[in-house]
Amino acid sequence: MVAPGFFLGLVLPLILWAGSSAGVGFRFASYISDYMVLQKEPAGAVIWGYGLPGATVTVSLCQDQETVMRKGTSVKADSNIWMVVLDPMKPGGPFEVVAEQTIGRINHTLNIQNVLFGDVWLCSGQSNMQMTVSQIFNATSEMSNTAAYQSVRILSVSLIQAQKELEDLPGVDLPWSKPTAKNLGHGNFTYMSAVCWLFGRNLYDTLQYPIGLISSTWGGTPIEAWSSGRSLKACRVPKQRFIPPHSVSGPSNNSVLWNAMIHPLCNMTLKGVIWYQGENNVNYNTGLYNCTFPALIEDWRQAFHYGSQGQTQRLFPFGFVQLSSDLSKTTSQDGFPQIRWHQTADFGYVPNLRMPNTFMAVAMDLGDKNSPFKSIHPRDKQTVAYRLHLGARAVAYGEKDLIFQGPLPEKIEVLSGKGLLNLTYYQKIQVLRLDNKIFEISCCSGHQCKWLPAPMDTFSTHTLALDINPCRGTLVALRYAWITWPCGYKLCPLYHPSSALPAPPFIAFITNQVPGHHSKVAK
Ligand SMILES: *[C@@H]1O[C@H](CO)[C@@H](O)[C@H](O)[C@H]1NC(C)=O
Ligand SMILES: *[C@@H]1O[C@H](CO)[C@@H](O)[C@H](O)[C@H]1NC(C)=O
Ligand SMILES: *[C@@H]1O[C@H](CO)[C@@H](O)[C@H](O)[C@H]1NC(C)=O
Ligand SMILES: *[C@@H]1O[C@H](CO)[C@@H](O)[C@H](O)[C@H]1NC(C)=O
Ligand SMILES: *[C@@H]1O[C@H](CO)[C@@H](O)[C@H](O)[C@H]1NC(C)=O
Ligand SMILES: *[C@@H]1O[C@H](CO)[C@@H](O)[C@H](O)[C@H]1NC(C)=O
Ligand SMILES: *[C@@H]1O[C@H](CO)[C@@H](O)[C@H](O)[C@H]1NC(C)=O
Repeated sequence: MVAPGFFLGLVLPLILWAGSSAGVGFRFASYISDYMVLQKEPAGAVIWGYGLPGATVTVSLCQDQETVMRKGTSVKADSNIWMVVLDPMKPGGPFEVVAEQTIGRINHTLNIQNVLFGDVWLCSGQSNMQMTVSQIFNATSEMSNTAAYQSVRILSVSLIQAQKELEDLPGVDLPWSKPTAKNLGHGNFTYMSAVCWLFGRNLYDTLQYPIGLISSTWGGTPIEAWSSGRSLKACRVPKQRFIPPHSVSGPSNNSVLWNAMIHPLCNMTLKGVIWYQGENNVNYNTGLYNCTFPALIEDWRQAFHYGSQGQTQRLFPFGFVQLSSDLSKTTSQDGFPQIRWHQTADFGYVPNLRMPNTFMAVAMDLGDKNSPFKSIHPRDKQTVAYRLHLGARAVAYGEKDLIFQGPLPEKIEVLSGKGLLNLTYYQKIQVLRLDNKIFEISCCSGHQCKWLPAPMDTFSTHTLALDINPCRGTLVALRYAWITWPCGYKLCPLYHPSSALPAPPFIAFITNQVPGHHSKVAK
């Protein structure tokens, strides 16, 4: 088919390749396929793939046999890659995407069908993100609840690690698909991610336009595996190999999952990312997590912005789940509370100065003693996804006056004469029960400081008084829920009344009085 004479003087090495099988090498990137969702306006979606160096590629978007857009580009000589940025599209579809490669007189076309425009969210993390819909409470009814969600499309990335940053995904376990019971519950810790799916379903209920969900997760992995060399260096993470404790099951070498499961996705346009990870850092580089997590967010933002030629927002919204609970005895008592705190860059709430445009779902009250997947894998993912989607609506979609964070105190006053510590909350509080141990004060005499329980005493709509009589010395700090398993299922003592969002854990030095200023968004 190829006319060798035509090329002979031009690019000799190519002819052998092209000549043996015409069109070889012309393809879309691995994750550009039928049923996909492309990012809608105001961004332009990126379509890319591989081709013959020097060839021209035209990408057309067609609907009802009509071409609605055409974009031309050429295949880069050094990389075999072609890439086009589509004009911003309103949400909807379906479209056909046709790519045509022309070199000399030879054309080749590729096409993908049933493509929608909407918001594309990437979901990543470890086993609690990987847990599938078949593993959660009410699995059967959740898996069959798909009829209304045919415009929520799912893709699950294969579990692969690499020593170097890869250009494209080596594999996908589930190519872009419509949701079915089978795709949502393929097997334990495979696909589809329940948190990702339920988050997308909640968003669809609100937004009523297509949602694309990409799950790229691997259980038993520390944050270091998902971090690029740049962010690890910024946080001075030791280079030497992590010797995993026996609980670790996934790969743990620095950057190996960033390289193979995230970097290849940087060339697509995204709306945002959600993340559920940290259990594997409760015993590993725990004290660095207040650097490694904000650094990962910043680094992913740069890489996705740059990789999509500026189409993915520079500070795209990034949501995450604060660690839930665990009953296993091997967990250090301080690891969970430390990681929960470090997940907020030690502010106690997000967004904050170090973590702009982020949102968090508190999950410490969703512990699940009887989970068949061990208590570290709670089955109530519905509440996790619900809380997370409230954050997305407020932070990513700018919904005003939506409560998406539980109450934190804005003022802490010692009323010494009364033996009370008076907390004033910015939001209304709902006190479910009076707990004698969940608040603790650090009490010092001489050089000795001890954490002592400060029983909850009286309360009103915005204030709570703690009994500090147990402290005979100087009171220097106060902390709330600073324990792996702070309360029974949905039974922490403090919530916001109408949203039922739990008060997040915090630690505050009394000299500073305030554990954190409240974010502007919360007001
Ligand atoms: C090949 O593509 C070129 C440019 O798009 C077009 O002009 C030409 O007609 C095409 N040829 C065939 C055989 O389709
Ligand atoms: C992980 O690190 C060890 C030691 O540095 C090395 O032998 C191994 O090949 C690495 N694995 C991967 C997947 O990079
Ligand atoms: C998933 O795990 C549950 C609980 O251990 C078990 O009953 C079920 O058979 C597992 N499913 C598959 C597909 O392995
Ligand atoms: C991070 O937390 C550690 C303690 O775990 C603390 O020593 C350090 O100052 C914190 N760093 C930042 C940047 O907040
Ligand atoms: C794809 O994204 C990566 C990561 O940001 C970047 O290094 C690469 O240049 C991008 N590819 C293209 C063709 O722009
Ligand atoms: C499971 O379904 C029951 C009955 O509809 C409902 O009351 C319960 O809240 C559901 N559980 C979760 C975790 O969504
Ligand atoms: C706690 O502070 C609030 C607001 O400043 C005040 O109204 C309330 O009376 C105080 N509670 C106690 C027990 O003093």
